[in-house]
Amino acid sequence: MIPMRPTELAHRIVREVLCEGAHAVDATAGNGHDTCVLAEAVGASGRVTAFDVQQAAIDATRHRLASAGLLDRVDLVCDSHLHIARRVAAGNVSAVMFNLGYLPGGDHSLITRAADTDAAIVAACGLLCRGGVITVVCYPGHPGGGEEAASVAERMRVLTGDGWRIGSQTPVGTRRPSPVLWFAKRADAG
Ligand SMILES: C[S@@+](CC[C@H](N)C(=O)[O-])C[C@H]1O[C@@H](n2cnc3c(N)ncnc32)[C@H](O)[C@@H]1O
Repeated sequence: MIPMRPTELAHRIVREVLCEGAHAVDATAGNGHDTCVLAEAVGASGRVTAFDVQQAAIDATRHRLASAGLLDRVDLVCDSHLHIARRVAAGNVSAVMFNLGYLPGGDHSLITRAADTDAAIVAACGLLCRGGVITVVCYPGHPGGGEEAASVAERMRVLTGDGWRIGSQTPVGTRRPSPVLWFAKRADAG
């Protein structure tokens, strides 16, 4: 069997928790692939908030959503995910996706940064409803990516057992160093 790519597995994980009318967040909109998956999963009565610091990424995401007929259910925010808690109300968010690194086809020097990513993950944890999930795809292969991946791993270690179920996946037999998916699912009750 061909192993699923981390991004594909992240899509499967968020689809499992999202239902019609849910609210989801894309913390790194990029070219809009993940935003489209979230927008489809929350349905016409749902809402997605998508962040990116680059206007080019916001424009690419808007274009992709419009082509798919999904734009009306998405709020596009050209701002850092560091400000996620200012822009999104706590308590009713079912999924937050982080897909780290640089914008494919864009400026490769503009990357997510370990400290900001960690702060945004902590803030995202505070927004999630019970049973909600955060997915983080890390790319250790570019400069700064290894440090960021280690920081995410440490955050997941700290969360483990504290009302969170943590999992990870690293594909084998792919380019080295492989991307890694982390997910943190908030307990349903308790
Ligand atoms: C790998 S791309 C995301 C891919 C995207 N999710 C998709 O499906 O096409 C990473 C994105 O993170 C964005 N980014 C970097 N720092 C950020 C920050 N502090 N807040 C929000 N987005 C950021 C970059 O501009 C880039 O577009």
